[in-house]
Amino acid sequence: MTDNSTAGPAPALFTWEFATDPYPAYAWLRENAPVHRTALPSGVEAWLVTRYADARAALAEPRLSKNPAHHAESPHAKGKTGIPGERKAELMTHLLNIDPPDHTRLRRLVSKAFTPRTVALFAPRVQELTDQLIDAFVADGRADLIHDVAFPLPIYAICDLLGVPREDQDDFRDWAGMMIRHGGGPRGGVARSVKKMRNYLAELIHRKRENPGDDLISGLIRASDDGEHLTENEAAAMAFILLFAGFETTVNLIGNGMYALLRNPDQRERLEASLAAGESGLLATGVEELLRYDGPVELATWRFATEALTLGGQAVAEGDPVLVVLAAADRDPERFTEPDTLDLSRTDNQHLGYGHGIHYCLGAPLARLEAQTALATLLRRLPELRLAVEPGDLRWRGGLIMRGLRTLPVEFGTRAGDPQV
Ligand code: HEM
Repeated sequence: MTDNSTAGPAPALFTWEFATDPYPAYAWLRENAPVHRTALPSGVEAWLVTRYADARAALAEPRLSKNPAHHAESPHAKGKTGIPGERKAELMTHLLNIDPPDHTRLRRLVSKAFTPRTVALFAPRVQELTDQLIDAFVADGRADLIHDVAFPLPIYAICDLLGVPREDQDDFRDWAGMMIRHGGGPRGGVARSVKKMRNYLAELIHRKRENPGDDLISGLIRASDDGEHLTENEAAAMAFILLFAGFETTVNLIGNGMYALLRNPDQRERLEASLAAGESGLLATGVEELLRYDGPVELATWRFATEALTLGGQAVAEGDPVLVVLAAADRDPERFTEPDTLDLSRTDNQHLGYGHGIHYCLGAPLARLEAQTALATLLRRLPELRLAVEPGDLRWRGGLIMRGLRTLPVEFGTRAGDPQV
């Protein structure tokens, strides 16, 4: 069980135990060192911001740039820092690595193509995809919810939305799988997958220019702002960030969310009863609470001080990297009542799971749609759902930014009339 006692010595960060349950360490940091300088596993030194008020302020702070060019190189870095843009790839010039005015222009353009209406129209397709994935294993009585549902659903959904033809989507699934398995690592396979994706997207954008459809890539090409269009490079970088930002995050929202429900049977039963009564209110507040309680984006992406400034009373030097710990801020007792308790009906819940300020998640409506559909359908179609292993046997991915399980093996009862495979 989580022991969020804040007494005692500084906890070790980035260990295996930390990856399994980082919340006690975050409680200690919030209490004792709320803006804390630490060496990351890569050797880079960065400030970790853990209190809610400081985190929110840092996310809206214009002197914290997203452009890695502002990073004062750390002499301790081992070369591969994991900082995006390090390899200066064209695909990296995207929304999460740029500042206004470029950010304002590109975000306005993509917002024209990626509207809440586009997402709402997509709801039946997300339901169909979810059902097809579940059909493939429902008769077995067991599944790995990461491999069988959480991983494929977002990749097929985003491919459909972007306009990647169905026959090419399994290639995307393989490339994305390589990136998620070895993300951040210096493996050649990741670089190869990124390259394949880049070449594929460049060609697809070219084709859509000739032959536009009613998909997001065609919308991106069409979108203009005072006569200004996205260049092909900008369109490719945009398609890439939509894929990249919208993929692993959603995998982990479904995975972490389902795991939290399995560990909190009273909450899960409440949700099942509410869904059986045809209500959707608890599902909506519940998904927000799952984001707050154990969200997929543990740390917001990199920020760099463009000048010396003070954060939460702490002096930060020009060029210093700053990492806002969303997972710590979202358990801050100064902001949330009983922050370590999962309460699906929590309404005073301005969590930072989707970030805050100008980089607030562009895909939040799609993420909500996918997570709500997946969780509701899994609970409805898999009766007596339970973990097939002890919680202690589950392994968490050790990445810096994302938090998610490698596998989530479950067992469940089968119903007469389910498809036989
Ligand atoms: C559960 C799922 C998701 C979570 C928790 C999530 C979380 C976040 C967070 C925390 C940020 C801000 C990062 C920062 O400021 O450092 C962000 C930005 C972004 N997200 Fe999401 N995201 C999710 C799904 C998606 C989806 C499905 C898409 C698109 C298909 C998407 C596209 C983006 C984009 C493009 C940005 C950058 C926006 C900008 O810089 O202006 N996200 N997301």
